[in-house]
Amino acid sequence: MKFFVDTADVAAIKELNDLGMVDGVTTNPSIILKSGRDILEVTREICGIVSGPVSAEVVALDAATMISEGRKLAEIAPNITVKVPLTWDGLQACKVLSGEGKMVNVTLCFSVNQAILAAKAGATFISPFIGRLDDINLDGVELISDIRQVYDNYGFDTQILAASIRTVNHVTQCALVGADVMTAPPSVIKAMVNHPLTDSGIAQFMKDWAKTGQKIL
Ligand code: G3P
Repeated sequence: MKFFVDTADVAAIKELNDLGMVDGVTTNPSIILKSGRDILEVTREICGIVSGPVSAEVVALDAATMISEGRKLAEIAPNITVKVPLTWDGLQACKVLSGEGKMVNVTLCFSVNQAILAAKAGATFISPFIGRLDDINLDGVELISDIRQVYDNYGFDTQILAASIRTVNHVTQCALVGADVMTAPPSVIKAMVNHPLTDSGIAQFMKDWAKTGQKIL
């Protein structure tokens, strides 16, 4: 399972990247707002750190302008993935941009049918938002599992990028049902290390070690 980090926080990206935890980065307009930075400038900086796909999202709603925005974003670096929304115009933009050899991430996916359309339009990645489905009492992980089954049934090579990941349990569940990629905020990725038995185990070892009176260094 590839790990993308869902942030434009350059320090957080660097920290995780140094540990080998970052296969790519995803951003969206809300993440750019949170960063307080210029989209072109911060995206360029991220592409200088991470060699894997870096998603940058268009903001136009019509296909022609989405395509122009996508071409401009793609000029930032060869690893830019143009992110387009799952609308009819977004699918048109996906078809054109992927036809030009650009990576395209189709975002805001909430159904299997939407995921089929994105695959047929040549998407490199499909981004189902699982947390937002859970928010309305639907099952986000079930959607990942259903898309996995349908893509495998027909040999679609679009990668399933589980997004809107809010908890460490989401990560486990997405891995179990075969998401190709998950994108999560740095806090969720870092929380994956935690286990109370690890903490209590260390505490016990420290106590016993102190009683030996020994030193390693
Ligand atoms: O990857 C999509 C993500 O940024 C949306 O997450 O938590 O706002 O639903 P959330």
